[in-house]
Amino acid sequence: MTTFNRRYHITTFGCQMNKADSERMAGILENMGFEWSEDPNDADLILYNTCTIRDNAEQKVYSYLGRQAKRKHEQPNLTLVVAGCVAQQEGETLLRRVPELDLVMGPQHANRLQDLLEQVFDGNQVVATEPIHIVEDITKPRRDSSVTAWVNVIYGCNERCTYCVVPNVRGIEQSRTPEAIRAEMEKLGQLGYQEVTLLGQNIDAYGRDLPGVTPEGRHQHTLTDLLYYVHDVPGIERIRFATSHPRYFTERLIRACAELPKVCEHFHIPFQSGDNEVLKRMARGYTQEKYRRIIDTIRRYMPDASISADAIVGFPGETEAQFENTLRLVEDIGFDHLNTAAYSPRPSTPASVWENQLSEEIKSDRLQRLNHLVATKAAQRSQRYLGRIEEVLVEDQNPKNPNQIMGRTRGNRLTFFNGNIAELKGQLVKVKITEVRAFSLTGEPVGIQQLIPV
Ligand code: SAH
Ligand code: SF4
Ligand code: F3S
Repeated sequence: MTTFNRRYHITTFGCQMNKADSERMAGILENMGFEWSEDPNDADLILYNTCTIRDNAEQKVYSYLGRQAKRKHEQPNLTLVVAGCVAQQEGETLLRRVPELDLVMGPQHANRLQDLLEQVFDGNQVVATEPIHIVEDITKPRRDSSVTAWVNVIYGCNERCTYCVVPNVRGIEQSRTPEAIRAEMEKLGQLGYQEVTLLGQNIDAYGRDLPGVTPEGRHQHTLTDLLYYVHDVPGIERIRFATSHPRYFTERLIRACAELPKVCEHFHIPFQSGDNEVLKRMARGYTQEKYRRIIDTIRRYMPDASISADAIVGFPGETEAQFENTLRLVEDIGFDHLNTAAYSPRPSTPASVWENQLSEEIKSDRLQRLNHLVATKAAQRSQRYLGRIEEVLVEDQNPKNPNQIMGRTRGNRLTFFNGNIAELKGQLVKVKITEVRAFSLTGEPVGIQQLIPV
């Protein structure tokens, strides 16, 4: 092969799915003999794993690409790859816009990187965006962390939220088998990983496309069943999952989370809007009352559970009163964390062509007001940690203070404390919380925990 001593750099935009795909693609490249280059300007192969969820995410990709395309004129051997969601959305168009590209590949093709690159090295310019059945990956991913790991459980999304490009770019739902998921987790446990986050754009859809129904007529493989099935994997001490959809979130799942000690008491359940009329036009399939009931049920089983979500402001036609319903929901629920965004019209989505688009001024004003409320509420929610002892899984050094190390609580709060990373990386440490901020905590270690958390 012609690839020895070649160096690669990957830049990843977007969500956890893209991060997981990048780790698998990096694994494939290393398997082919490529070495990681920290500086993209020293790399012979540059891969952008792109995101198109909002216009600003997409534009960022073009500005990066422009720079590397120029470099290619001085260094013709440079291989330029665009993977991910912009690649899927734009396909051939991307080649016309940036003719210096060697490979444009959609997210469903991530596991095929070696195949596709071999075609490139044979002298072809390649576009791989056709829908395919995602094959099980046999390459070892090059994971960014040695403590926490992503595990895909379902690819794609069959929902049709009227603002969202994800179904267009990620394709239909494809669940991995419980056996494949468990096997990957067992390997992670053997390698010393402590925490796994199970991933899906709509993780509650897990198993719908797998064969088998129970005598009661329910799908045999659900997220709840999967949690029971993987729960005892040796070495894995914490299990998380994302993203949940309020339409399909069940009490059975909540009960499983309360019952299974390794499943962390943190739920990421986007509500998008607190107004029923807006939710209907988003085609979300639930009401704000149902959303509140889900949170009430979670808190009934796990009073201290931390709750995070995503919300969009300035959806087409959203009135001031409807926006205030979102504020009210945020006020009432008290999120530990909320990702907020101003609505951005996306290609080939229904809402993008509606005539009742709002001005940028209204959108950014609402975004600011919502963000202000979120920070206030998160700071209040943080107060409950003060003086408490929390279990922190140590991930890294604090990049801003080398005397400190950092990790997350079970509720997913970033926590800093004094300690030696060489000694404590990957350990569960009991930390007494002495300082709280809206989105992070500081504390003092009171003991290293060797046993499975209770
Ligand atoms: N599957 C998840 C989220 C996927 S995208 C879900 O169903 O909630 C991540 C977040 O981006 C969404 O929750 C939404 O809040 C935001 N988002 C998606 N499309 C958007 C758009 N066109 N404009 C602004 N925000 C958007
Ligand atoms: Fe997009 Fe809706 Fe699917 Fe989430 S559930 S990825 S918001 S279409
Ligand atoms: Fe972005 Fe694609 Fe994820 S559009 S948010 S990277 S699924």
